[in-house]
Amino acid sequence: METREFQKATVMVVDDDIVNVRIACVMLKDKFHVMAAESGERAFELLKKKVPDLILLDVHMPEMDGYEVIRELKNSDDYKNIPVIFLTADEDEEAEIQGFSEGALDFITKPFRKDIVIQRISRILELDYLQKNLEAEVKMQSKKAEERGKKMERMSLQMINALASTIDAKDPYTNGHSARVADYAVMIAERLGYDEEELVKVCYMALVHDIGKIGIPDSIINKKSQLTQGEYEVIRAHPVIGSNILKNITEIPEIATGARWHHEMYDGSGYPDHLKGEEIPEIARIIAVADTYDAMTSKRSYRDVLPQQVVRAEFIEGRGQQFDPIMADIMVQLIDADKEYKMRE
Ligand SMILES: [Fe+2]
Repeated sequence: METREFQKATVMVVDDDIVNVRIACVMLKDKFHVMAAESGERAFELLKKKVPDLILLDVHMPEMDGYEVIRELKNSDDYKNIPVIFLTADEDEEAEIQGFSEGALDFITKPFRKDIVIQRISRILELDYLQKNLEAEVKMQSKKAEERGKKMERMSLQMINALASTIDAKDPYTNGHSARVADYAVMIAERLGYDEEELVKVCYMALVHDIGKIGIPDSIINKKSQLTQGEYEVIRAHPVIGSNILKNITEIPEIATGARWHHEMYDGSGYPDHLKGEEIPEIARIIAVADTYDAMTSKRSYRDVLPQQVVRAEFIEGRGQQFDPIMADIMVQLIDADKEYKMRE
């Protein structure tokens, strides 16, 4: 760990032996600002003027000894966090034990050795700094990480929305289709009890389910007359094209799921992989229902929005065949709850 410089730190030396105080002042003056007190009482007077970063405290002093001083320091809200190093004579083990129990952080034995004194003070100041700042630092770093995460999330959603609008822009008749499918898919997933994180994924996957249409010529997508068999085959390629595009988004590996399998049917008669029942990923079974619902409740060049009861009947008819019966039932529940038929283009 890199050692921080504490040149500006202030150290208070409290010792009744004036020679010791002088020696300490001389040793420390290059590295620290030094305050000197020849008794505990004097130390408290000086503390009122300036609170030092650390106190070197002699244990044996007449009147107020080092233990009394540290006790009083620890009892004060203003001074209790000042780190204290005790100064003792050699071989004074009892003093060390008691000193630690009173809250001293370290001991320096007299006579002083300059390098040891400076190293010990610097180490304690470093520890004190880290301790006081760790919590603040952790809080700041977690806040930053959270902000970065949120920004990434917003960016992903914006990118995915942008992708979705490029698909919708190709086909003026289905403008807003992807966003509506995402809304309906999320409503179904909510009824299935998905949590917030899963709902975001459902939303993403539904928004890009038709991304593969980017690879289909406009002339086929916008063709008003009946499609030829060949053209129909081209359109049917969009789930595979879409999943190939999306599989490059490795940060959201499941995002291709909806694109690839939203045209699979529950009875196995869909495409591209002819999956059946629960072989079809649940999210794709959700999107299939949401997609079909939006197709029926959107205007087409050749027809208006279908009546709500017609749409409802399609889901009852298709349950277990085109649709997962659970998803179809949920769709019927949503339709029944939508008394004024607001869920439409
Ligand atoms: Fe599609």
